Amino acid sequence: MNTMNPSISAEADMQDQGPAIPVRENNPEDTVIEEGKTVGKPFAADPKFKLRNVSVSYGKDRAIKDISLDIGRNEVISFIGPSGCGKSTFLRCLNRMNDSIDICRVTGELLLDDEDIYHSKRDVVELRARVGMVFQKPNPFPKSIYDNVAYGPRIHGLANRKSDLDDIVENSLRKAGLWDEAKDRLDSIATGMSGGQQQRLCIARAIAVSPEVILMDEPCSALDPIATARVEELIAEMSESYTIVIVTHSMQQAARVSHRTAYFHLGHLVEVNETNKVFTSPEHQLTESYITGRFG
Ligand SMILES: Nc1ncnc2c1ncn2[C@@H]1O[C@H](COP(=O)(O)OP(=O)(O)OP(=O)(O)O)[C@@H](O)[C@H]1O
Ligand SMILES: [Mg+2]
Repeated sequence: MNTMNPSISAEADMQDQGPAIPVRENNPEDTVIEEGKTVGKPFAADPKFKLRNVSVSYGKDRAIKDISLDIGRNEVISFIGPSGCGKSTFLRCLNRMNDSIDICRVTGELLLDDEDIYHSKRDVVELRARVGMVFQKPNPFPKSIYDNVAYGPRIHGLANRKSDLDDIVENSLRKAGLWDEAKDRLDSIATGMSGGQQQRLCIARAIAVSPEVILMDEPCSALDPIATARVEELIAEMSESYTIVIVTHSMQQAARVSHRTAYFHLGHLVEVNETNKVFTSPEHQLTESYITGRFG
């Protein structure tokens, strides 16, 4: 590049670089993506979410470009793609977590059980109880293990008696595979647990308000392989009761846990297919380039 010293001529610049590098055929970066066009199977027979022509902008910058997708009831779907392609942005639309970002604007139709997620009368607190979220970094409150799990049920008035609350806490910890490790230390501060335990506690906290959907944004990226395996087992168990959307940078993880996989690229939804198909015979050239490690 010649931006540092404008006195160097373009010719000299070219000479400095030696012979031109031949352009690769089928360079994935040159592939033109048709906006709004997704190959594969983006729609589901029994959709929990029906998302149509969704675009998201931060100020003037478009981060999500005309995406249409169904997420099936009790489906586990993975979102994959290079950093910055819009996975987290799109995930956050599903429970309106983008609302807190002033410059963020969401357009299109986003339905949860056929009801408009962005309807002006929609109760966002209730929405987030139905569509829970687990973040990349475990973020337990600096409270006891018990109080972390009881927090949501208390806010939403889900338990009238102490014994009801005890039951919810126990059941949530059991479902999150943490009961045996936590039952004798329910009054201990949650931040004193291991990273893997903290992440399972955050899953228990999400489960405690009986959500229908759990959104997970790279839930294992801060965990060691054993803790990761435990969370992945949990995802498989939870899929019987919940719809799960997981963003992951680990293709192995997507392959292990999800029914379908969605490949995002520069704000486009390029391909959605059965996970096995995405990783063995992807339909789109960009998906293939990504899964074979040519970029990302
Ligand atoms: N709060 C924000 N304000 C402005 N721009 C943002 C904001 N959050 C994300 N963006 C931009 O939107 C685009 C998509 O970002 P996003 O975080 O959704 O990508 P991602 O696929 O989740 O990336 P990663 O894999 O690195 O987490 C990027 O260009 C990013 O810079
Ligand atoms: Mg992200």
